[in-house]
Amino acid sequence: MARLDNRVALITGAGSGIGRASAIRMASEGAAVMCADLDEDGAQGTAATIAEHGGKAAAMKLDVSAETEVKDAIARTASELGNLNIIYNNAGVGGGFGWDRTIAVNLSGVYYGLLHGAPFLAERGGGAIINTASVAGLIGLVGVQPIELGQPLPEGAGAYVAAKHGVSGLTKQFAITFARMNVRVNAIAPGYIETPMIAIASEDETARRFLESLHPMGRLGQAEEIAAAAAFLASDDASFITGIVLPVDGGYTSR
Ligand SMILES: NC(=O)c1ccc[n+]([C@@H]2O[C@H](COP(=O)([O-])OP(=O)(O)OC[C@H]3O[C@@H](n4cnc5c(N)ncnc54)[C@H](O)[C@@H]3O)[C@@H](O)[C@H]2O)c1
Repeated sequence: MARLDNRVALITGAGSGIGRASAIRMASEGAAVMCADLDEDGAQGTAATIAEHGGKAAAMKLDVSAETEVKDAIARTASELGNLNIIYNNAGVGGGFGWDRTIAVNLSGVYYGLLHGAPFLAERGGGAIINTASVAGLIGLVGVQPIELGQPLPEGAGAYVAAKHGVSGLTKQFAITFARMNVRVNAIAPGYIETPMIAIASEDETARRFLESLHPMGRLGQAEEIAAAAAFLASDDASFITGIVLPVDGGYTSR
């Protein structure tokens, strides 16, 4: 029997990168997966890949910054796939989106998943929630180009780090609140992972080498390495683990 047999997972941001790899990984371990993304084509592409490999998946368009959409996605997953045991609040945007949008997607989006997801799972006997934080949810970031005196700060400066620290806090708080209701809540804090979000790493060799140098292992991570951690935290192998923010970062936060 596979580790996630008879489980149903809702994964946000499943159309690309970490969410896509996690959907494929959880499906390969037996879960039926609702692939949700603002990019509906991306979500459908992931669901199709899962189906091609004999797995069970569905797809839907979802904007996690819209509270009612998140609430509806939770109910729709359970009605379409027959149950709901795992919620992976993973969707996010990188730098450059400004304060309001970054907070709306990266922090409020996760909050809505917890606010509506945790009681939903609790009422049905429990489950596991995973959030994608970041090393930026544990420490500040150092940029490729330092700001020079007299330069204007970029719009939304610090928003990504603030949102991800918020995700770490929400993870701990919801873990405690729902600990007696059999709902485990954990987060993953990836280092720099080679996905479309950090396209600069494939476009600019100097930037890539700088980002690699931030990780004691001397390389960027792969989406599949985050997916492996997500599948573990979603499974009963993590049955006594709740409230952690797990760095999967090649040693980034150990320095
Ligand atoms: N790539 C990295 O280096 C890295 C490092 C740490 C944390 N993260 C986090 O990992 C998560 C996934 O990022 P990724 O690297 O896979 O990037 P990605 O760009 O490949 O995937 C993000 C997905 O989220 C979707 N999305 C964006 N806004 C959305 C919204 N409002 N509602 C629903 N879906 C939305 C996008 O369409 C996309 O498919 C994000 O939360 C990101 O902040 C990434």
